[in-house]
Amino acid sequence: MKTARSDARARLIETAATLRGEVEVARGEKKTIGLVPTMGALHAGHVSLVDAASRECDLTIVSVFVNPAQFAPGEDFARYPRTLSADWELLGGHGADIVFAPSSEFMYPSDHATYVEVGGPALPLEGQFRPGHFRGVATVVLKLFNLVTPDRAYFGRKDYQQSLVVRRMVADLDLPIHIEVCPTVREADGLALSSRNRYLTSDERRRALAIAESLRLAARLVREGTRDAAAIMAAMHQTLRARDLQVDYVALADPETLHPVVLVDRPTVALVAARVGATRLIDNELIG
Ligand code: PAJ
Repeated sequence: MKTARSDARARLIETAATLRGEVEVARGEKKTIGLVPTMGALHAGHVSLVDAASRECDLTIVSVFVNPAQFAPGEDFARYPRTLSADWELLGGHGADIVFAPSSEFMYPSDHATYVEVGGPALPLEGQFRPGHFRGVATVVLKLFNLVTPDRAYFGRKDYQQSLVVRRMVADLDLPIHIEVCPTVREADGLALSSRNRYLTSDERRRALAIAESLRLAARLVREGTRDAAAIMAAMHQTLRARDLQVDYVALADPETLHPVVLVDRPTVALVAARVGATRLIDNELIG
């Protein structure tokens, strides 16, 4: 625990050797280390994770790395927003001590050949639509865990399936790291904050709201007594299609296993992936 700092600038570290030195010093001082892995283009959703880490840990490290291994050919790796100096600026005011921004050459030298094979919660949904995505996520997250050796690592519920994949990996590979999953931060009108929102035109931004609306509709239908998952998903599809969104999937699933739910008579997570123009967005909400 430490008190909030207001405007101190975080240290920007770009090499593993310097990072390891800092971590060693912190360990010598018996400090707890918190890690917030990000791909940069930071927004209030990321900041909420940094705030949580700096409340709970003595040393807060935010990694900024656009991980090529989690993008398929044809996805948005090349145009993914890279805004390191703005990110660095933003983080200082939020209690981050270190911004770790390694190079691609360091993370994936040309002879890199080892990846984490993921199963279980990585297989459905995003696993079907973005084959190889969670293999890339798990690989880079494990590398970051090994570089930073955090006591605690912070992830957002916005990427619900990702948080399950990371938790599974930590349990399966016996990593001594506590995973904290923090609530989704939304715009006032409900749109979940995402680095990809900046791709949206103003018309697309309006249409993208249908995603959060479809999740709220699912929650309302369940509150009002609907239990039939197929009926709820049909209503969600209708909301999305009415705004011309291309739906990858709408799912009602078990919050732990992501197995499909047929009757919403237990805790359930509703998940949506849809494309608004060229931009693919995901969101979810716990319902039932
Ligand atoms: P990125 O999309 O930058 O997200 C970094 C972290 O911020 C993730 O844990 C994500 O769930 C969280 N986050 C994003 N939007 C959020 C929101 N609106 N509210 C709360 N949390 C939010 O997710 C990744 O990067 C990468 O896959 C990564 C884990 C860094 C591995 O490369």
